[in-house]
Amino acid sequence: MHVTLRQLEAFIAVARNLSYTRAAEELNLSQPAVSMQIKQLENQIGQALFEQMGKKIYLTEAGREVRQYARTVIQHIEDMEAGLASLKGLERGTLSISVATTAHYFAPQLLSIFCERYPGVNVKLDVTNRESLVSQLENNTVDMVIMGRPPEEIEVEAGTFMENPLVLIAPPDHPFTREKSIQLKKLEDEVFLVREKGSGTRKAMEMFFAQHGIHMKTGMEVSSDEAIKRSVQAGLGLGIMSRDAIQNELQLGHLSIPDVLHFPIMRHWYVMHRKGKRLSPVAQAFKSFLLEEAAAILNKGGAAPPPHPDALPPPTPATPPQEPAPAQSTAQSTGTYAPAQPQKVLFGADGKPIPPAPKK
Ligand code: PGA
Repeated sequence: MHVTLRQLEAFIAVARNLSYTRAAEELNLSQPAVSMQIKQLENQIGQALFEQMGKKIYLTEAGREVRQYARTVIQHIEDMEAGLASLKGLERGTLSISVATTAHYFAPQLLSIFCERYPGVNVKLDVTNRESLVSQLENNTVDMVIMGRPPEEIEVEAGTFMENPLVLIAPPDHPFTREKSIQLKKLEDEVFLVREKGSGTRKAMEMFFAQHGIHMKTGMEVSSDEAIKRSVQAGLGLGIMSRDAIQNELQLGHLSIPDVLHFPIMRHWYVMHRKGKRLSPVAQAFKSFLLEEAAAILNKGGAAPPPHPDALPPPTPATPPQEPAPAQSTAQSTGTYAPAQPQKVLFGADGKPIPPAPKK
């Protein structure tokens, strides 16, 4: 059956008015043109839609059936037109955004202000590590991503909107907290807890140590910033983390930032999408919001684009990023803090380390 929208519109008008003449006036067509549309529709359906008795016309049973469906079809078309019109503006739409694990410490605050401003916008937020953000960009499955450094492997349009200093974190009773201007070399006596491979923070940390010729002793690999913080508090090692991730712990005195030379590792937060991507009005509004307002809202330094996102002081001869080092003793006698040994620790569902079984 080949039914056209024009036939359905003519039919609905005649059925409503029970008059070809009035339907033709309503549709701005001639009366024979309307009759022609109805005839063609009846031919397609194979049944009469109207019957004439005296001077009046009536819907047949088939006509009543067709009227019901025709109304629905026309209604859907009208809804589609209205929907498309509102998508052109900011009344409605979906923002699909993915952020680096570490960015989840500030992204919800920004989204809540944005959503208050545009209440019709529906947000889909995915939190994942750098590696999977890059593949989302590659596959064009999100409007945009927030992460620590534009990828080299694909072409993106990236704008930096906020500083992202990576700081060294230690337990508050670590001997480092009583020293000033600590030499980087001293970090070789410590064990570092690292994020999983694929994490941008881990990559930046490895590059930093490699460019300074520091041999990093790697302890546990932990795929969550929260678990790294708790492990550092528990004395399992030191960590390097975005300052955005440790605000609460600093305020509560659960973690400290030792004064080590060359720190912080200055990075920046970027918003980016595939080069040439056609952003929806909602996505475009969110991008502008980040670039123009995010730093002020979060009370942070705006980001003058750095010469290189991972800009570092002049490097000593570079060594490649280190693979996890074998266990070594790094015990020191000062203070209450005993530096950790590299070790395997299991984590419970709550992200807290599960203590080892007591020794027999
Ligand atoms: P991460 O990302 O959470 O994967 O470490 C931070 C970043 O992209 O720098």
